[in-house]
Amino acid sequence: MKYHSPKGLNDILTDEIEQWHVAETAIRTVMNRYQYREIRTPLLEYTELFERGVGQDTEIVGKQMYTFSDKAGRSLTLRPEGTAPIVRAFLEHKLYGRSELIKLSYLGSMFRYEEPQKGRSRQFEQFGVEAIGSADPALDAEVIELGWSLLTEALGLDGLRLKLNSMGCREDRKRYITELRSYFTPMIETMCPDCQVRLETNPLRILDCNEEICQGPISAVPAMLHYLCDDCEAHFDRLRTHLDDLEILYRLDPTLARGLDYYTRTVFEIASPDLGARDAIIGGGRYDDLVEMLGGPPTPAIGFAGGMPGLILTLNAQKGPLHEQTGPDLYIATVDEQGRREGIRLLRELRRGDITAEIDYLGKSVRGQFGYADRIGARYVIVIGPEELDRGALTLRDMRSGDEARIDLDPEAIAAELSQRLKR
Ligand code: HAM
Repeated sequence: MKYHSPKGLNDILTDEIEQWHVAETAIRTVMNRYQYREIRTPLLEYTELFERGVGQDTEIVGKQMYTFSDKAGRSLTLRPEGTAPIVRAFLEHKLYGRSELIKLSYLGSMFRYEEPQKGRSRQFEQFGVEAIGSADPALDAEVIELGWSLLTEALGLDGLRLKLNSMGCREDRKRYITELRSYFTPMIETMCPDCQVRLETNPLRILDCNEEICQGPISAVPAMLHYLCDDCEAHFDRLRTHLDDLEILYRLDPTLARGLDYYTRTVFEIASPDLGARDAIIGGGRYDDLVEMLGGPPTPAIGFAGGMPGLILTLNAQKGPLHEQTGPDLYIATVDEQGRREGIRLLRELRRGDITAEIDYLGKSVRGQFGYADRIGARYVIVIGPEELDRGALTLRDMRSGDEARIDLDPEAIAAELSQRLKR
């Protein structure tokens, strides 16, 4: 094989696409039901946006971005996530001028140079929502509930776990980081080289580390929740009350720190039982400082993003693969050139009438055309030859029952007969 796709970039073949369509339709339907309106941002952004927005010390910015210079020497990056670009668009188009709370949704490709593994690839689709302009904990509950009901109700997944934590505000985090530094310092020699650097740059990022040798120290870390100020604690308590009212079960996870630097207060993940070490299908949280950090007015916000690869794997594991490849309603077999010309005209009329139809383009014999119609699962077949043209009538054969019926060789009559039989 001379050419293959670059490592970590996958083809989605026609056999798999039905599962994607089902998931995408559910995603769009649910997001619309909650009034999150779609926004599409470019695949490329200036690199500084992510350096500033996602954070210099994160894995994403430090190791995983596809960054290059354009012909004018500007540094561009294939977007590794959707939140920073959406906040950029929100500011650039002054969307905050229109209403006090803006609810946005998206579904599109993201790019991260990471080791491909179960449910993780280098180009992947993410679906997500961002609600910008309110600090109300009821909005946190709405965003979490949206993600939860999308996966458990609209898509019917089982065994999912909702993990919840609070990162507090900027001041809380400063206090917590100091605490983390003194907690990890005595044991840092036993931890991975990356964590030794993180201890200096941002000890919070140690909590995201997946290295085996770091798991012991991480598991006994002091809980962030003990370092929350009164306001952040009250916010978290109110969120928990709302989740209880909505009967959404969650588990507090004191080590959940979410890998990106912009989070404040609420963070959450919804994990799948059918994925490996990186088991979150959905991850999100509040980012009350990001709009300001990117040059806008102080504006609280919350959102989440979900990965399609993990979602599709979980759907396949729990519901089996879907490949509902339906054949055409009608296959038009033809005998000679005259019949073929008539067949091609008929094909166009039927398709205009929303009937799916096919004709031979490979010069097959009539027998070969019948065999082909059968293989592709055509529901009905007609033959157009000199005899049918002479009589102005043809035989419609039902490929399931083998029954035959005589009808006029007239597009409208054929369309009407098929529509009636197909109950459209
Ligand atoms: P994230 O946790 O980096 O958050 O990504 C969210 C989800 O995207 C993950 O839980 C995972 O399902 C999926 N994902 C991430 N990387 C990959 C990959 N390489 N291959 C397959 N799936 C992947 C964010 O991106 C934030 N922007 C979420 C957010 C929105 N927070 C607030 N608003």
